[in-house]
Amino acid sequence: MSIIYNEQLKVFKLDTPNSTYAFKISPMGFLLHLYYGAYVPDADLDYLRQYIRASTTSALTAHEDVEGYMSLDTARLEYPCEGAGDMRISALSIRGKSGCNATDIRYKSHKIYKGKPGIKGLPATYVNTDDEADTLEVVCTDCLTGAEVTLVYTAFNNLDAITRSVRVKNTSDSAFEIERIHSTTVDLPDMDFEMLHLQGRWAKERTLVKRHLEFGLQGIHSKRGTSSHHNNPFVALARDGYTEESGEVYGFSLVYSSNFAVEIEVDFFRTSRVLMGINPETFGWHLEPGEEFSSPEVVMVYSNGGVGAMSRTYHKLYRYNLCRGDWKCAKRPIIINNWEATYCDFNDDKLVAIAEEAAKLGIEMLVMDDGWFGTRNTDDCALGDWYVNENKLRGGIKSLVDRVNAVGLKFGIWFEPEMICPDSQLYRDHPDWCLKVEGREMSIGRSQYVLDMTRQDVRDNIFEQMCKVLGSANIEYVKWDFNRNLTEVGSALLPPERQKEVFHRYVLGVYELMERLINKFPHLLLENCAGGGGRFDPGMLYYSPQIWTSDDTDAMERLEIQYGTSIVYPPSAMSAHVSASPNHQTGRETPFKTRGDVAMSGSFGYELDLTKLTDEERALVREQVAAYHKYYDVIQNGDYYRLINPTESKGTMISASAWESVSQDKNEVLLTYVVIRTAVAVSRYIRLCGLDPEKIYVDTETGREYSGALLMNAGLNLGIAGANGGKWSDGESRVWHFIAK
Ligand code: DGJ
Repeated sequence: MSIIYNEQLKVFKLDTPNSTYAFKISPMGFLLHLYYGAYVPDADLDYLRQYIRASTTSALTAHEDVEGYMSLDTARLEYPCEGAGDMRISALSIRGKSGCNATDIRYKSHKIYKGKPGIKGLPATYVNTDDEADTLEVVCTDCLTGAEVTLVYTAFNNLDAITRSVRVKNTSDSAFEIERIHSTTVDLPDMDFEMLHLQGRWAKERTLVKRHLEFGLQGIHSKRGTSSHHNNPFVALARDGYTEESGEVYGFSLVYSSNFAVEIEVDFFRTSRVLMGINPETFGWHLEPGEEFSSPEVVMVYSNGGVGAMSRTYHKLYRYNLCRGDWKCAKRPIIINNWEATYCDFNDDKLVAIAEEAAKLGIEMLVMDDGWFGTRNTDDCALGDWYVNENKLRGGIKSLVDRVNAVGLKFGIWFEPEMICPDSQLYRDHPDWCLKVEGREMSIGRSQYVLDMTRQDVRDNIFEQMCKVLGSANIEYVKWDFNRNLTEVGSALLPPERQKEVFHRYVLGVYELMERLINKFPHLLLENCAGGGGRFDPGMLYYSPQIWTSDDTDAMERLEIQYGTSIVYPPSAMSAHVSASPNHQTGRETPFKTRGDVAMSGSFGYELDLTKLTDEERALVREQVAAYHKYYDVIQNGDYYRLINPTESKGTMISASAWESVSQDKNEVLLTYVVIRTAVAVSRYIRLCGLDPEKIYVDTETGREYSGALLMNAGLNLGIAGANGGKWSDGESRVWHFIAK
């Protein structure tokens, strides 16, 4: 058991291979946080409770513990509540029938068991066998409101990951409102941390940014109805002095695809309180007697090997304990997507011509993107009308898919199931099916409104339309897109007191629809997308093992985007395509080889008109396809190391990016180096990571041998490695492949 309870000390201790998490029950039944950090073998952690008297005398005496040493306003708490003695940010606020929200929960009971439970209606990490993890459920009660609050913890036995979620049950005979319910909270004992998070915008998602913790409030959030392009539901706190491969890092990642908040408060005693969960600003939940509400799950990862080790833990956990289905670990097909080749302007012959060319080059699946349905010839109409446009696809969908299959390619298709255009038959038939606030003008985005996915009838309609298409031909992949944020968030079917539930109910509806789809078509490869990577989050990975990383397909821009994405998400999750040059988003020209080397570090594919390639480019595609097969195993199943941060390297001698994959047995290594902006540099060395110092590694291109120790401590000399005697040009890339002797 990785979780133990010491009855005498009333201490819970959760261990993972390299971390320990501990809290205790105080004599008055409060849960006091004791420790989260590197693994400690000791059982007696009771002495770690915080012995600080209240900083003021205001109203705290009632909650002073029997030992007289604790006040809720200063203690490190396991799940802080609103308005009953702790003046800092709170995890839980329940407004009872009195109309007040003073919330006070005390320990009632607990249980510890093997394995890990699911969360009803929500995505969550899971165990493949019960031996992989142990679970602790601590039940607390608020005797005034009758709220029964269960804190659920799971500690993984092979990974330094602890998950947390919360359930609230109304055991009283009157309804109450949940105003805030964070999924996790940790009170760290000091403020000596840098906060890392993934910030961005459309076409520039998940750039890694850093700032030091300061006194007071700080945090990130989304109110867009998606996890968002702008802030990923992730933060890490990295202890001062950390590096990419050393030092203490605490990661927090929320398995959720809608409005979230990370709230951090550094208090007057320098305690850093971290809260993560559903964004309380856009949330409320009316809980009738007997009803239960479950929060989404937070995955906390502790690393004492820097940011890199934290990432590798997330990669493994999300690949093997979050993604599901046939495609979880299966080799993904190399895709040709027609979006940047044709946009909405295509017909069956054009797609078949692309497929024929793709087949000759070794590409494995054609994905027909936006524009195949209803009257959609431009991107301003017809969303909601999921029936084929036979003027474009003459002979219908089956005929097209059969022709594509006949040339040797699998077939995939694009949908945007949650949207409706005012210019669509669906809208003409059901104008009331949108999210809207009666009497208020509806905002429009990309000529579309958002369907009310809280409604069963709406979901049923979309599901049936999708099933009809997917059942009509051999369609093996769906790209599920989502291209605008939610505004005027109201649902016609809910009473006023439940309108604050719409954001959360919306995402529950989306999850339900995705679950139905993958149950009905269990062999389908589902790829998520939200105007690029606007919903690139662990929640979506539960349904779709790969996600379109960004609408910016410029390889140079992708360096930063993929670098940031890799902080949490494994290469298999990142869909990455070689696109045309000049790039359609930025206008930049980048060598074909570099575009391939960059895309190769994700789930690989192409997104350009293959019928227009030169012979030289065709030869390069063949080489890239061969490289994909040759390096697939080390890239997708190996450990990922970030060697040069492209954001921070700007302004140095040569600005560049570099990353490396190392097989689990450390016998195979693939290193990719890409120059962003060149400069005259005498010598520059790149030191590898994660090798066996004792092994001899052979460069498979040159035959030169290096010890692992040499490659890790001195590194490769880039001064002589460029294509032209150490001179590198902008956008040039190089890949090294090593095999241990
Ligand atoms: C946004 C996606 O990110 C693109 O790849 C493409 O599918 C378009 N939508 C189609 O409208």
